[in-house]
Amino acid sequence: MAILVTGGAGYIGSHTVAELLEKNEEVIVVDNLEKGHRDAIMSDKLNGCPKLFVGDLRDKDFLKEVFSKNDIEAVIHFAAYIEVGESVANPLKYYNNNVIATLNLLTAMKEAGVNKIVFSSTAATYGEPENIPILETDKTFPTNPYGETKLAVEKALKWADNAYGIKHVILRYFNASGAHVSGCIGEDHSPETHLIPLVIQAALGKRESIKIFGNDYNTPDGTCVRDYIHVSDLANAHYLALQSLRTREESNIYNLGNGKGFSVREVIDVVRKVTGRPIKAEDAPRRPGDPAILVASSEKIKKELNWEPKMADLETIVSTAWEWHKNHPDGYNDK
Ligand code: UFG
Repeated sequence: MAILVTGGAGYIGSHTVAELLEKNEEVIVVDNLEKGHRDAIMSDKLNGCPKLFVGDLRDKDFLKEVFSKNDIEAVIHFAAYIEVGESVANPLKYYNNNVIATLNLLTAMKEAGVNKIVFSSTAATYGEPENIPILETDKTFPTNPYGETKLAVEKALKWADNAYGIKHVILRYFNASGAHVSGCIGEDHSPETHLIPLVIQAALGKRESIKIFGNDYNTPDGTCVRDYIHVSDLANAHYLALQSLRTREESNIYNLGNGKGFSVREVIDVVRKVTGRPIKAEDAPRRPGDPAILVASSEKIKKELNWEPKMADLETIVSTAWEWHKNHPDGYNDK
């Protein structure tokens, strides 16, 4: 039986597809390729290729066809819009893609009798944290529509479990970063809004400088603090989540981070060190919706699913990102 990965041609999706192939799973990808890249799942350096269905989760007939043509055991659901700023400017676009599409997916799963789903959620469900490090039991109060849409899906999953027995594992990621060690897949967003790839673009001379959004936060150096986690460690957590659904048949929710915070200035310094290139940084106004500090407690997933990050060190994370961007300065170059 196959694992259906929605958004499997995206950044975290493609790294999870690579992990599943490595574990000899049969993988089917559904992606509309609006943001994803065909080349992210077609590399000959990976342990095979998934079957790709190009289409949109908002298209119910398409979904029905995918479920009827394949013997699907479980779903790993990534497909969503992910830009916080854009979600504030255009919330309905986010509700439409992130919530309505997921309800279609759950309906198709229910009709096909598929009862396992791993869901890609986010630290943005917490909003301004009450405690650092953040626990799964802490208050969820998103400060932007992106986080709201992910939380709305989390709640739909809870009730879908209650009524139909569809079991879920929700993974709330902190800052996904880095690239696959093979060098064949990495981060390529358009437009790019994330800190590490933008600082690397500055190192490559593709942008003049990096803007530091806010220098007056209540943090040691005044800039925002985040918990960076390697994308392949995240990918491995999806595999463990799938295994837990297979063996325990129980729903759960886990944070995923390294439990260590780095400020924007510290990240820029690590990129300077790894690349050996000068990088001009400029202070700029705060970016609306940014909490000062987001650091995860991942003790629960370590304890319950035996998850252990293999690339927890920020220099290692940045080195893998640097390898990717240096060799793919224009990303997959397919848009
Ligand atoms: N930053 C800058 N300059 C830039 C880009 C970012 O100073 O040019 C700062 C941001 O203000 C933030 C930090 O770098 O303080 C990290 O920003 P990212 O955009 O890389 O990541 P975020 O923490 O904003 O967002 C990430 C995910 C989101 C998710 C969120 C959860 O990308 O999808 O974590 O908090 F919602």
